[in-house]
Amino acid sequence: MMKTPIILSLLFAVSFLPAKAQTYEPSAENLKARQEFQDNKFGIFLHWGLYCMLATGEWTMTNNNLNYKEYAKLAGGFYPSRFNAAEWVSAIKASGAKYICFTSRHHEGFSMFHTKYSDYNIVDATPFKRDIVKELADECHKQGIRLHFYYSHIDWYREDAPWGRTGRGTGRPNPKGDWKSYYTFMNNQLTELLTNYGPIGAIWFDGWWDQDANPDFDWQLPEQYAMIHRLQPACLVGNNHHQTPFPGEDIQIFERDLPGENRAGLSGQDVSHLPLETCETMNGMWGYKITDQNYKSTKTLIRYLVKAAGKDANLLMNIGPQPDGCLPEVSVQRLKEMGEWMKVYGETIYGTRGGIVSPHDWGVTTQKGNRLFVHILNLKDNALYLPLDGKMVKKAFLFKDQSPVRVARAGQGIVLQLSEAPVDTDYVVELQLVGQ
Ligand code: GLC
Repeated sequence: MMKTPIILSLLFAVSFLPAKAQTYEPSAENLKARQEFQDNKFGIFLHWGLYCMLATGEWTMTNNNLNYKEYAKLAGGFYPSRFNAAEWVSAIKASGAKYICFTSRHHEGFSMFHTKYSDYNIVDATPFKRDIVKELADECHKQGIRLHFYYSHIDWYREDAPWGRTGRGTGRPNPKGDWKSYYTFMNNQLTELLTNYGPIGAIWFDGWWDQDANPDFDWQLPEQYAMIHRLQPACLVGNNHHQTPFPGEDIQIFERDLPGENRAGLSGQDVSHLPLETCETMNGMWGYKITDQNYKSTKTLIRYLVKAAGKDANLLMNIGPQPDGCLPEVSVQRLKEMGEWMKVYGETIYGTRGGIVSPHDWGVTTQKGNRLFVHILNLKDNALYLPLDGKMVKKAFLFKDQSPVRVARAGQGIVLQLSEAPVDTDYVVELQLVGQ
């Protein structure tokens, strides 16, 4: 008799489960991780896979219609003899970056980690036989830098992966694939990645857009995201789908454009309230490309980072490691130079949010409490008007040498009177605002 109400209430609860699964409520750990992610501001993306040997970028398999069985033979010759995780992590840390996002498996379908669910992986299919992801993860944890995993939803190698609009010329026999088998495979791999490599900062998905001509295609993302959050509640989920975020996602990703801009053509989407990240290449390609030595200058890279911070976004700057296991020399030089700048100016970037003065042609502002950092990137005059919504300034000085900057009231804002027209990579004026 006493049991009936319990059973009834259980039934009642169960009937509400599907509705609950639709609404994602991030855990306290997850919300904390989001804040830390935003505070960190700067990460390095690494695109590394078998494609580095062909040295024409990570899309070469589909761009050149390479047969999947022939392509897979690359694995037998992959021996990055000079790979040294400690050297990578040190070089990256020297730049001031606080996290690394590594391609655990890109569209080519090759796993750069030891997986039980396919032999097509770095340990079982190459003479190198070392779990690169494990070595990298151990080193990241040792040196205190966060590790994120890029994970492709596309696979140009597996026969069970349904065809999308890419990878059609790789000779795989079965356009329909076997979604159930492929989805299980991905979830098994994600479970490995989130179980065998310590705390992971984020899973960075890519490839959703492969089915954009097929709007009924169901990627079953909510269940996959829930699984990730179950395995590691603090792990952030991001998806490079070029849309406004879907339920279950913790960050919003932009590709090759700052939030709200769309020069590269992939970023017309609205900017959400989630933490933002924009990824960009250091030269012009994600994976190693031997003919692309067109590296952006240190000044350009620093300015991109500053502009991202001013738009409240992180910068994820990419490097494509070489087939021998080294990071390209130029990229290491850029990392070092960015780090030298970050040593001096990091305080105006880390832990800040976009400032009260919105981004302008002349530059951006970042803010930490009552400290407003005015990053002047492009100004021909020695004076600058800042709309401050009536806020009062207690103190104004040049960040690099603390020399005072004259301020004149002008309507609801102020005019900064500088001693020169700025020429620095980033001319930073710090304003101490009167508390709210
Ligand atoms: C794209 C490409 C991919 C690259 C990614 C990085 O979506 O497919 O090769 O990994 O962007 O943002």
